Amino acid sequence: MKTLSQSPLDPAFVQNPYPFYEQARAAGPFFRWSDYNMVCTPNAAACNAIFRDRRFGRETPAELAPIIPAHLAPFYAVEAHSMLELEPPRHTRLRSLVLRAFTSRRINALQPEIEALSHQLIDALPEGPFDLLTHFGQKLPVIIIARLLGVPEAMSDDLLRWSNAMVGMYMAGRDRAREDRAIAATESFVAFMRSYIEARRQDPRDDLITSLIAAEEAGEKLSTDELITTCILLLNAGHEATVHTIGNGVKTLLETGHRATASNAETCIEEILRFDPALHMFTRWAYEDIEVMGHTFHRGDQVALLLAAANRDPGVWDESDQFQPNRPVKPNVTFGAGLHFCVGAPLARLELQTALPILFQRLPKLRLTEPPHYGDVYHFHGLTRLLVQAD
Ligand code: HEM
Repeated sequence: MKTLSQSPLDPAFVQNPYPFYEQARAAGPFFRWSDYNMVCTPNAAACNAIFRDRRFGRETPAELAPIIPAHLAPFYAVEAHSMLELEPPRHTRLRSLVLRAFTSRRINALQPEIEALSHQLIDALPEGPFDLLTHFGQKLPVIIIARLLGVPEAMSDDLLRWSNAMVGMYMAGRDRAREDRAIAATESFVAFMRSYIEARRQDPRDDLITSLIAAEEAGEKLSTDELITTCILLLNAGHEATVHTIGNGVKTLLETGHRATASNAETCIEEILRFDPALHMFTRWAYEDIEVMGHTFHRGDQVALLLAAANRDPGVWDESDQFQPNRPVKPNVTFGAGLHFCVGAPLARLELQTALPILFQRLPKLRLTEPPHYGDVYHFHGLTRLLVQAD
């Protein structure tokens, strides 16, 4: 297996990781990324196979569980109840309870609200050049997920701040200052959710938190700690990636001279999700000895699935480096696959398919006023700002 080195903190790489992915692809289905000391795959078939293989999972094998430094305990206490960090049977229990409340009926009912909110945000845009991320991209998903959960909208700014600080824990090269910010945010978030869940227990409403409290399957219910973690997971996962998909998508459309419209919404949004996803790297642990496409993994090995690379696998997509908004839809791995497939994918798709056509219909002259710049972090792939002008 080839070893490749590429600092995930190198500015040229974070601005455009795709040439590295292409180089990696030439090395075969797997390569060792020396900076992570990890076997990685840019190959679509390998990503799909590993995502769907129950002999791989997200939960750390017991014998490898890291010792958590005391100052990080509050963060990992929340993660301990996260379906995203667990495997069956706990994952099955949490996910099925959440899916009882997070139904497609409840999501589809949000469409008129997403439409109205998109118009309101566009009505409120300032004159002259403005940052589409702060005025539109960041607002829409956080307000929608807050409304869905039933959290007061006035809390949106706090949620955004806490969530941004917490995801710092997943970034390459995090330092003590970033950790301290993440822990402070975790503590505030948990305290808020605990009191809010208590309030909904006393005073049930027609919202997702109330449904989560009531959700019951085979006599099982979510405990208060599980409810807190689930709400935090939905709020965090629920907007960060969607915000950056809006940003990356509008950037790509403006750079390539395309538009999202009511008639191309489905293919165009799928192509945005495929072409420049907001999250690039997810890892799995091997739980036994497993051979995948010629490489043998042993129990305790980790493998990184490079989603954005897999989405440009020329074995799956013709002219995979081209953005083609009418490309016939084929499954990509932007939302993962298998057991942990993104719970929020239908909501994210609905938001994108609703909001972007409205944006381009309302602002037909929308154009970039400066070259967009991605944040200097990996594996999150999102813009720091998206300066545009509407006339
Ligand atoms: C474009 C936006 C989004 C992207 C790119 C995205 C991506 C992903 C990916 C790749 C995974 C699987 C991770 C893995 O298998 O290791 C995942 C899981 C998850 N996502 Fe999303 N997501 C998005 C939006 C959302 C939204 C809007 C929500 C909630 C409202 C959400 C909630 C979740 C949850 C709860 C999981 C864990 C599922 C499980 O472990 O069974 N996501 N997401």
